[in-house]
Amino acid sequence: MHSDLKYGKMNLMIQEKARIVEHQQIAPNYYKLTLLSHYISSNTLPGQFIEIRVCDFTVCPLLRRPFSIHGTNKDKKTIEILYEVVGLGTEVLTKHQIGQELDILGPLGNGFTIKKKGKIAILVSGGMGVAPLKALAEHIKAPARYVFMGCKKMDQVVCEKDFSKLGFEVQVATENGSAGKKGLVTDILNGFIDSAQPSELNEINIYACGPKAMLKAVSEIAQQKKLNCQISMEAYMACGIGACKGCAVKTTKGMKMVCKDGPVFPAQEIIWPI
Ligand SMILES: Cc1cc2nc3c(=O)[nH]c(=O)nc-3n(C[C@H](O)[C@H](O)[C@H](O)COP(=O)(O)OP(=O)(O)OC[C@H]3O[C@@H](n4cnc5c(N)ncnc54)[C@H](O)[C@@H]3O)c2cc1C
Ligand code: FES
Repeated sequence: MHSDLKYGKMNLMIQEKARIVEHQQIAPNYYKLTLLSHYISSNTLPGQFIEIRVCDFTVCPLLRRPFSIHGTNKDKKTIEILYEVVGLGTEVLTKHQIGQELDILGPLGNGFTIKKKGKIAILVSGGMGVAPLKALAEHIKAPARYVFMGCKKMDQVVCEKDFSKLGFEVQVATENGSAGKKGLVTDILNGFIDSAQPSELNEINIYACGPKAMLKAVSEIAQQKKLNCQISMEAYMACGIGACKGCAVKTTKGMKMVCKDGPVFPAQEIIWPI
C-alpha cells in the first residue's frame, strides 16, 4: 500500500522582514531573488508561495505580489524566488538591493501531493511555471523523471541544469523554435503519452504549472487518458489568505480560493473556462 506525501497546511504562516542576500538577473526580464528567512526556509512544502510587499511608498503597488517558492536552503536559512518582470510591482522589485529587507508573508497555500504510486513523474511547465516545479523536483523519487518545459523563446529557457542534476530528462519546446522542439509543451506531452505502452499509462503522474491555457490543455490530455494530474493555478490575488475571495475558481467541489485551497488542485476538479 502506498501513502502519498500530502503536502499542505502543515505549517504556520508568518509575516516578517526578510533580508536580501542575493539578487541577480539570470535572463532578459528574469530575476532570481534569495531572501534570508529562518522560519520559511525550514517550513515550506513544494508548491507553496509567499506574498511580497514590493514597496512601502504610495507610488508603488500597495497589494502584495504572490511568488512561488523556487528553492530553500535549510543550512543557509534562505529561500529563493524566480520571477519575471511583467508590470510595475515586479519592475519595482528589481530595484531592491542586497542587504535591504522585504516584507513577506508565507508560506501560503496548499502545495503538491507527491504520489508514491507510479514509476513515471512528468513535470510540465509553461514560462514562469517552472518556478515551483524546481522546488518540487527535489522531492520526487520516481525512477523515471521528466520535465517538459514550454517557453516562447530560447532566452526564457531556465533551470535546465538544475533539473538535469536532479536526474530529470529535460525536453524543451519553444514557440519560435529557437530552442528544443518548435511548438507547444503539450506537443511533447502528447508525443510522450502516444508512445507509452498501455501498462505505462497507469504509472504516470503529471505535475503542471503555467498559464491557464496550458493548464487547461494539460488537464484535458490527462482526463482523456485517465492520468493522475495536479495543476498549480494562477490567479490575481490580493489578501493571499482566503479573506477577500478575489481569487475564487469554480471546481467540482464548489467555489475554491486559489490562495488558500490551492494553488495546487487535482486537474479533474477545475471547471474550465475560468
Ligand atoms: C500562486 C502564485 C504564484 C506565482 N508565482 C510566481 C513566480 O514564482 N514567479 C513569477 O514571476 N510570477 C509568479 N506569479 C505571478 C506574479 O504574482 C505576477 O506576475 C505579479 O504579481 C505581477 O505583478 P506586477 O505588479 O509586476 O504586474 P501587474 O502590473 O499587476 O500586471 C502586469 C501584467 O501581468 C498580468 N498578471 C499580473 N498578475 C497576474 C497573475 N497572478 N496571473 C496572471 N497574470 C498576471 C496582468 O494581467 C498584466 O498583464 C505567481 C502568481 C500566483 C497566483
Ligand atoms: S487572494 Fe484573497 S481570497 Fe485569495
